[in-house]
Amino acid sequence: MSEIAKLSYQGNEYELPVTKGTENEEAIDISKLRGQSGLITLDPGFKNTGSTKSAITFLDGEEGILRYRGYNIEDLAEKSTFLEVSYLLIYGELPTEAEYKKFTKKITKHTLVHEDIKKILDGFPSVAHPMGVLSSLICSLTAFYPNSLDPNNSKEEINLSIVRLLAKLPTFAAWAFKNKVGHPVNYPDNGLDYCSNFLKMMFALPAEKFEPDPVISKALDKLLILHADHEQNCSTSTVRVVGSSQASIYASISAGVNALWGPLHGGANQSVIEMLEAIKDDGGDSKKWLDKAKDKNDPFRLMGFGHRVYKNFDPRAKIIKKAADEVLEKLGIDDPILDIAKELEMAALQDPYFVERKLYPNVDFYSGIIYRALGIPTDMFTVMFALGRLPGWIAQWKEMRENNEPIGRPRQVYVGATERSYVPMDNR
Ligand code: SDX
Repeated sequence: MSEIAKLSYQGNEYELPVTKGTENEEAIDISKLRGQSGLITLDPGFKNTGSTKSAITFLDGEEGILRYRGYNIEDLAEKSTFLEVSYLLIYGELPTEAEYKKFTKKITKHTLVHEDIKKILDGFPSVAHPMGVLSSLICSLTAFYPNSLDPNNSKEEINLSIVRLLAKLPTFAAWAFKNKVGHPVNYPDNGLDYCSNFLKMMFALPAEKFEPDPVISKALDKLLILHADHEQNCSTSTVRVVGSSQASIYASISAGVNALWGPLHGGANQSVIEMLEAIKDDGGDSKKWLDKAKDKNDPFRLMGFGHRVYKNFDPRAKIIKKAADEVLEKLGIDDPILDIAKELEMAALQDPYFVERKLYPNVDFYSGIIYRALGIPTDMFTVMFALGRLPGWIAQWKEMRENNEPIGRPRQVYVGATERSYVPMDNR
């Protein structure tokens, strides 16, 4: 028997069921509130509003816990691989060896993209931001695979679209980069693992032999795992809402890429590096920049700090910070902005403004430092985030469809002009 919440208003009392999740989170179910009372709720940014019940990812913002299908992120980052984590998120269980082999074999088979996609790519000027190219190429899959538009796609057809997305995104991402630097694109090398193939498509040059560095491939694989899902964040909510209209999975994922692009969300990893570079160029005075971040009259925010859910350390930031030290040491790179980042973190964590607001480093604070060490250019950082988040977006879209969730359509409180008559232009 579920608990009941009572709402009393203007002499009436309304009973609302309370739902409880497997981690004892409780939510007041208001799905019948308007019918009972004529009232709606208002919650800009949905800070206190749950949009769905999901079995994919669990976050505890106060404790700094992140689990994919019940497995702690620390374990998965240490022991798993990105494609195994992708399978776990999308299908709910860790794959057996046979399932994993079948899954990865299918992905390898679909890494090539239709040759006509190069014509679309060629239409983009080299100044195009790779995120805009990526979302466009993903949406172009609706043209090359029109049967994906059918809202009644079978499980097999949806699984084929899922494989195509996982297989082709690294190709699209690398091609977006090549378009930017004016180099010829590289075709996938199916003899390589997922990350090594991506790195080769990114960095191989016609006249040179390219051997992916296993240290870099492994570091990239870990970063992709850490970004793979994060419950109902901005871009995932976008994927679910777009998919709830029965738009295709390709259109939904393309929308997710665009939502991720914003500097307050996935675009923060690019903004963090730009911020750290600016601090370095400005003489490295962390205190000056912390004061700017605290100044309400200054639009500057400490990028890579703060989080809607985590009011403790983002567990991913801890893992990435440690990996940054390891990767830079292994690659023999001494990047001064890593020291600036650590200094900034230390200063912020002792500053009452950040402590009172429980602002800690988030996933984006250190990730850019590793991407940079891996040779990935700054405006490709958010593309890397999208590569990592893809299985999460897919898993959430699939869950929404399998649960036959209703089309997402929030209410509003109207605050505009009340009724008035039309006035002809010569009388205004
Ligand atoms: C991601 O949702 C997810 O799960 C996202 C993500 C994922 O994996 O999908 O984790 C990935 O998007 C991480 C976040 C990356 N963005 C940034 O690093 C940008 C900088 N951070 C902020 O803009 C901010 O912290 C947000 C957007 C992340 C969260 O904003 P909220 O939850 O809407 O919080 P808020 O803006 O209401 O801030 C609360 C207070 C405010 O001060 P007061 O009005 O109370 O005085 O904290 C302040 C804010 O001004 N604040 C900051 C700050 N973040 C919040 N002040 C200075 N610098 C900051 N970074």
